Amino acid sequence: MFKIVSLPGDGIGPEVVAGAIRVINALADKHRLEISIDEHPFGGASYDLHGDMLTEETLEACKNCDAVLLGAVGGPKWENLPHDKKPEAALLRLRKELELFANFRPAKVYDALVNASSLKADILSGTDFMVIRELTGGIYFGQPRGYDDNRGWNTMVYEHHEVERIARLAFDAAMKRKKKLVSIDKANVLESSQFWRNIVHEVHKDFPEVELTDMYVDNAAMQIVRDPKQFDVIVTKNLFGDILSDISGMITGSLGMLPSASIGTTHAMYEPIHGSAPDIAGQNKANPIATIASVAMMFEHTFCMKNIADDIYQAIEQTLASGLRTADIAQPRDRVVSTTEITDAIVANLQAS
Ligand code: NAD
Ligand code: IPM
Ligand code: MN
Repeated sequence: MFKIVSLPGDGIGPEVVAGAIRVINALADKHRLEISIDEHPFGGASYDLHGDMLTEETLEACKNCDAVLLGAVGGPKWENLPHDKKPEAALLRLRKELELFANFRPAKVYDALVNASSLKADILSGTDFMVIRELTGGIYFGQPRGYDDNRGWNTMVYEHHEVERIARLAFDAAMKRKKKLVSIDKANVLESSQFWRNIVHEVHKDFPEVELTDMYVDNAAMQIVRDPKQFDVIVTKNLFGDILSDISGMITGSLGMLPSASIGTTHAMYEPIHGSAPDIAGQNKANPIATIASVAMMFEHTFCMKNIADDIYQAIEQTLASGLRTADIAQPRDRVVSTTEITDAIVANLQAS
């Protein structure tokens, strides 16, 4: 019996999570798996119901399941709340409480979508890299933080063990891929980045087969759009990983395509990298593929069923190959369909496989 907690959240969150849950239920039926899915309010949706973005009940449920499936949180309705009361702060607290220190964000081009990006097809074709973003440290969590009428301040701080554990995990991931790791920092300016770099090189001694390169984050942003095929595994700090993974979204054609897995030693959460997209929320227009591919990552990493993960990716590929597109990935001659229609097609392809 697998226990999933779903947190649809705000904006397009409930729309894309509904699609992902249909995929999970179809797979449970097909393979006779016992999977329970408990939905809990989170973010603005929870605030509107309970006056609290992350209730103790939701947190406890997340701590007592095998995997959390998150949609997205945030939106204009809650953006003027005090900083520590915003939906985004609740997401950071949830990641911290579950100790999800590693966030895997795979940037891979589907053949059918090489023309969907603003980047040229021959630059993109064959791109397949993994951004490993440190998720529970750095400037997102450092103290002191705050602002008054005259100053605003945050602290970028890393502890030795925080850098060491993410570095080890990144070298491990590189060993399972093409054995090329790029560590991205700003060591020419920031002491906390020099510290990061020193530790990554220390850990490298245990992984001599991996080719390690250091890259400054400004250059890395340019290199990702200039020649994305040069990358295999990227490891980087929390803030840099946030920015670079949205840039990587354009490799896949849309933010709506990029899944993620947030992993710790005891818990795991699966979340598309995009936000609540208030501009298209409630219109049945959102691309659910990032969330459905996050379910594939759940089957692979938490349930250890790589064959089912592969079936999900294949169903996505078949659906795209048949020409169906949500608006974000559509080209002029494509057939534009809704969130529910593209989900119907993915589910049908999964059932037929
Ligand atoms: P966003 O990712 O929500 O949207 C950026 C752009 O990408 C928009 O034009 C949107 O329509 C488009 N887009 C995003 N996901 C899409 C999808 N699945 N299908 C089609 N188009 C999609 O970023 P934003 O507008 O900067 O932020 C909106 C809100 O979401 C903010 O409150 C922000 O804090 C929050 N946010 C939450 C998360 C999260 O919960 N994990 C992540 C990022 C942003
Ligand atoms: C993401 C988001 C979050 C982040 C926000 C909403 C807290 O942008 O998951 O990429 O910055 O980590
Ligand atoms: Mn982000």
